[in-house]
Amino acid sequence: MNNISMVDLAGQYQAIKNEIDEAIHSVLAESAFIKGRFVRSFEQNLANYLGVRHVIGVGNGTDALQISMMALGIGPGDEVIAPSFTFVATAEAVALLRATPVFADIDPHTFNISIESIESLITPATRAIIPVHLYGQPANMDAIMALARKYDLRVIEDCAQAIGARYGRQAAGTIGDLGTFSFFPSKNLGCYGDGGAIVTNDDGLADSCRLIANHGSRHKYHNEVIGINSRLDGLQAAILDVKLKYLDEYSRKRTEVANAYDHLLRECPSITVPHRADGRTHVFHQYTIRMENDTSESGQELRRDSVSGALKQDGIPHAIYYPIPVHRLPVYQNGIAACRYSEMPYTDTVVDEVISLPMHTELTSVQIHRITSSVLESVTAYAKQFEI
Ligand SMILES: Cc1ncc(COP(=O)(O)O)c(C=O)c1O
Repeated sequence: MNNISMVDLAGQYQAIKNEIDEAIHSVLAESAFIKGRFVRSFEQNLANYLGVRHVIGVGNGTDALQISMMALGIGPGDEVIAPSFTFVATAEAVALLRATPVFADIDPHTFNISIESIESLITPATRAIIPVHLYGQPANMDAIMALARKYDLRVIEDCAQAIGARYGRQAAGTIGDLGTFSFFPSKNLGCYGDGGAIVTNDDGLADSCRLIANHGSRHKYHNEVIGINSRLDGLQAAILDVKLKYLDEYSRKRTEVANAYDHLLRECPSITVPHRADGRTHVFHQYTIRMENDTSESGQELRRDSVSGALKQDGIPHAIYYPIPVHRLPVYQNGIAACRYSEMPYTDTVVDEVISLPMHTELTSVQIHRITSSVLESVTAYAKQFEI
């Protein structure tokens, strides 16, 4: 197949179609749509896979963050520190609880939250830190947990992009007080709709999360706390249970694609391939390169934007994750979501320099070469145009 796609959900489905169809039919036959054995089975299998005591299936990754913070009792007057260079959901969940999102800068190599920036933002109102394991690589959890101990803060790992990644011997998501996951279809472990999960080793927090996700009720009509309706459904759980068996294979394939990209792009002086920090695995939810802008001062088109335009003309899909850091969104500047933030030299730079290339388990070597040739040709064309 010559058409290159950013993700290939149909191709992945075809490869395991029989198992998926059978799983879906079992749920239909038993009408086990909400709660039930398929959800319990997936929760248990994911707990075993991650090496964690509790997994609570919820409606999506955004709810997982919100419920986690509700379980920690976070609300008005509290501050939660998170990166600004992330998908908006991380901050949105904080704002929804009327707490204040406080944005830290990133480490320019890993794109993950900067430890120095976190520490500079801590005040007596700070309750929690949400590191986001961006693009599939865990943040510096040793340093984050040390800060949490020093200042008595809670840690929620946003693992929406990093299922299966490891930090030392531990799975991403199992190091902080809570870890949150998204099973949005394009995620490394994606279902066929919305889905998410919360993981924790803390029995009390697990109990609270389960309660909150189910209208605050353990027993029907006995609503103990104000909760929400956020449940992973039986169909999604059955699909995820099938795909979970393939997750390590998917991660291996993604790493092979990343290795091939690295090999073909690394020598280009205008391109920085993804940094892989020691002692952690990167599961490459995204393969994101950086193209420095030594010319932006003079009003020339950004190198990244020029390459993006050329790729578009060549029919090569790509994406900018993320073009606007959350702290610059007007809704986070004013009103109820008004945030506080540190100096953002790295965040403000990389938003103009990052570009993500197609990344999925079905990419072929021919396609990878087509993509990298197009990138390299457009970098050369840019250099010629501006004589650099
Ligand atoms: C870093 C991050 N956090 C949270 C979410 C929210 O997950 P969901 O789309 O399942 O609500 C996403 C997913 O898009 C994400 O990438």
